[in-house]
Amino acid sequence: MCGIIAYNGQDDAVPYLLEGIRNLEYRGYDSFGCALDSKVGIIIKKDIGKVDDVINKYKVQNLSSNKAIFHTRWATHGGVKTENAHPMIDCTHRIAVAHNGIIENWAELKESLGGHKFISDTDTEVLSHLIEEKLNKGADIQTAVKDTFKQIKGSSSFIVLDKQSEDLVAVKKGSPLVLGIAKNGNFLSSDVPSFVRHTNKVVYLSDGDMVVLGKKSYSITNLINKDVKHEVSTVNFSAKHAEKGDYEHFMIKEIMEQLGLMKNLESTDFKDVIQAAALVKNAKLVYLIGAGTSYHAAMLGAKALRENGINAVAVQGQDLITYRKVISADDVFIIISQSGETADIINVLPLMSKNKKIGIINSDGSTLAKEVDVFIPIGAGPEKAVASTKSFTLSGVYSTLIAMFAAGRNEDAIHDLKLMNMNMYNLLVPSVLSAIDKAAEKIKGLENVFFLGRDSDYIMALEGALKLKEVSYIHAEAIDAATFKHGPLALISDKVYAVAIVSESNRNDTLYNLQEVKARGGNIIGISDKNENVFDMFIRTQEGGSFGFVMQSIILQLLAYKTSILKGINPDRPKNLAKSVTVK
Ligand code: AGP
Ligand code: GLU
Repeated sequence: MCGIIAYNGQDDAVPYLLEGIRNLEYRGYDSFGCALDSKVGIIIKKDIGKVDDVINKYKVQNLSSNKAIFHTRWATHGGVKTENAHPMIDCTHRIAVAHNGIIENWAELKESLGGHKFISDTDTEVLSHLIEEKLNKGADIQTAVKDTFKQIKGSSSFIVLDKQSEDLVAVKKGSPLVLGIAKNGNFLSSDVPSFVRHTNKVVYLSDGDMVVLGKKSYSITNLINKDVKHEVSTVNFSAKHAEKGDYEHFMIKEIMEQLGLMKNLESTDFKDVIQAAALVKNAKLVYLIGAGTSYHAAMLGAKALRENGINAVAVQGQDLITYRKVISADDVFIIISQSGETADIINVLPLMSKNKKIGIINSDGSTLAKEVDVFIPIGAGPEKAVASTKSFTLSGVYSTLIAMFAAGRNEDAIHDLKLMNMNMYNLLVPSVLSAIDKAAEKIKGLENVFFLGRDSDYIMALEGALKLKEVSYIHAEAIDAATFKHGPLALISDKVYAVAIVSESNRNDTLYNLQEVKARGGNIIGISDKNENVFDMFIRTQEGGSFGFVMQSIILQLLAYKTSILKGINPDRPKNLAKSVTVK
């Protein structure tokens, strides 16, 4: 949600930041803005709309500066209007501030800033005026930022450009911010891929860190806990991983990457999974926490744990509050998150403060990755399409592996991984791809689609429906096939299409339910390893033992992707959505 990138150094910041902000577009935004230091003062350009449109409108590519901040805004406070785009300036035009997050006490702070002229309706603008107040009283920029940070409540990371200072000053809390150390200058950004072409040396900042970013050097002080360490890490992915390559969209690139990523698992030592398994084995109850698609991965993990004799429940981040009176010290948490920055989970971390925590997380150095006792990197590489694909299947696999290892079924797990990879070769054959195309062609004109399945097929139905909603804007609803008769059957007519997910363990019962749909005129698109009479259309998936959901998932992702393309939608950036949901 929102992207910030800043550079301070000896080179021209503009080419770096143009490239960087385009790389951050995947996060979701509604407006773009930039602040550049110049001899005549701070230059601000901002507007609503697409990054490239605003850049071309204001000819940002023709500007140059050694010190600048670029920002994409995802509105939380104040409508999508030019004056609400960041950066925000103070009354004297001395400073510019770009911000990611929410200032919860902005209204009262604004009231205390009586004499100041506000030009926007955002919460962010209180930052520029609060800093200005302190500068007016003689504080230096670092003290002014530090004291302002202490006044604000909520999750907020922000970067300040002061025309009277050589440095940029930034603070991180809640929202992501990383530091990149390059040869001729330094970066601050919401993520590493946005600048990784220029350096792979990074410092993952912690909450409370204040960074003073000079042209040649930097310093970090933690304003909450002075013992926080700031190690320089070397990231091991190159810019290539964060680019589309020959693919038309990131979503299809990331779907296809799953085949190689699953194969790589065969040569993994699973040390961290073994550690996690040892923890859950002795737990009274295992909570698997996630949001959206990662919650579906949590459901897969919880089911696998229960089936392996371990008491487990999947809970959506924000809902953990309803468990506050029953969480006991012997419970263990498994947190699943692609970004490691999802606010719904960060907000409930205090409820897990006494418990052991395992993290299945894609972003190293993220807020959640820093909070866990056992960190299992998802290892999907950068995932840039808003709709999560490869992180989902890998986190489903890792949570299932924890369950199987905890039950001492390591050999079964490795066997099933191999089975999945072997059958994966037969998954995307021409007949299957053309069946997906035909199904997408059918679905694209519909207003509603049902997704049906039982047991783990129901979890895949939930995930298939979410993918379709996100990238095709079609109303898709997942229903446990067993519960259809308890009400939803009333909706069935010959105009209705249902995508049914049928795996071997649920085959007979699901087919029975599908007959009930069929008997009322409904049309069924079956995803299964066997064609069935009840299917009107058939997409073949493959057996994968405990990991069969990976192949079902790839089919469902492709179905959503193809439908999106047929509808002329850019699947990488669905409207209204953000990749990483860093607000409540
Ligand atoms: C997935 O397709 C969605 N964009 C969304 O539901 C996402 O999975 C959710 O916001 C959780 O994100 P996280 O994995 O980064 O925590
Ligand atoms: N709350 C701020 C706003 O609405 C920042 C939103 C963001 O993170 O982009 O402007």
